[in-house]
Amino acid sequence: MICRSVFGRTLGGDAARQVVGAFARYQRGSGVGGLLSLLGLPGGIGARARAWRLRGEVARIHAVLDRLVAAALAPGAAPSLIRAMAEAALPGSGEPLSPLAFRNEAATLFLAGHETTASTMAWAWFLLSQAPGAAARLRAEADAVLQGRAARFEDLPALPFARAVVEETLRLYPPIPLLARQAQQEVELAGRRVPKGAVVMAVPWLLHRHRALWEQPDHFRPERFLPGAPPRPRHAYIPFSLGPRVCTGAHFALAEAMICLATLAQRFAPRLAPGARVFPVCRLTLKPGETLPMLLERRA
Ligand code: HEM
Repeated sequence: MICRSVFGRTLGGDAARQVVGAFARYQRGSGVGGLLSLLGLPGGIGARARAWRLRGEVARIHAVLDRLVAAALAPGAAPSLIRAMAEAALPGSGEPLSPLAFRNEAATLFLAGHETTASTMAWAWFLLSQAPGAAARLRAEADAVLQGRAARFEDLPALPFARAVVEETLRLYPPIPLLARQAQQEVELAGRRVPKGAVVMAVPWLLHRHRALWEQPDHFRPERFLPGAPPRPRHAYIPFSLGPRVCTGAHFALAEAMICLATLAQRFAPRLAPGARVFPVCRLTLKPGETLPMLLERRA
């Protein structure tokens, strides 16, 4: 979905597989070092050695992205985010974006937009497989609203429980579980001196499960996000971050996740494979390990 949105509808399957494959190999090779280097923390010699080994993967990602950007900008190409960026007037200079800037935009949108939603979907199906009541309520809502067809953007207001499932999933397993900021100047935070240049972490993983902020914080209870539920403390819930660098794809992500959930819930009831054990693993995003073995039961 993100591939088609960023590069255009005609660039589907193959291109997506190439980019996802290259990013996945990059992540496996980078391990925690990748996360630390993204956060701008010194990773030591081990991290430098890993970065050296990953150069080939980086070059492959760049080559795939450059090809996709060129195809998205070719005359007659389908509408896409990349084309919209090329057609928009740049505020300030009025200059067109350079090829390097396009590649960087494409990489950011792609990286920010594919695994975050994919992890959300994986966690949502896992949580639903452990909560038959919530799964039944989701199915009943989807059946009533969609009557067998795929969900569309216009259906979203009629799917409040699907939305609540996505929001509760993002609370329990925020795909980006920690946010790093660097202090531009010395400040005092909660009585502690933060020197200029220090890295300060905001940790949705902890905030979203804090006992002082949430009732039954470790329970999966989508109801807490339904309209009319008691208000929650401001800023206790930040899966998309806050402030000037807030996720630009938050609405897109919620919409695609709701559409997928509601559409699929009508036809399938995913069950965790017997004996499977699920652990959160934090790479670039918080994932249920490398695989999440589930059995798809087709609904009558
Ligand atoms: C459930 C899915 C998603 C989650 C949980 C999520 C979460 C986040 C978070 C927490 C940040 C801020 C990171 C920071 O401040 O350090 C961020 C930034 C960003 N996200 Fe998302 N995101 C999701 C989906 C998407 C999608 C689908 C797109 C694109 C269509 C997207 C595009 C971006 C971009 C471009 C930024 C950087 C914004 C900036 O720095 O100005 N995200 N996202």
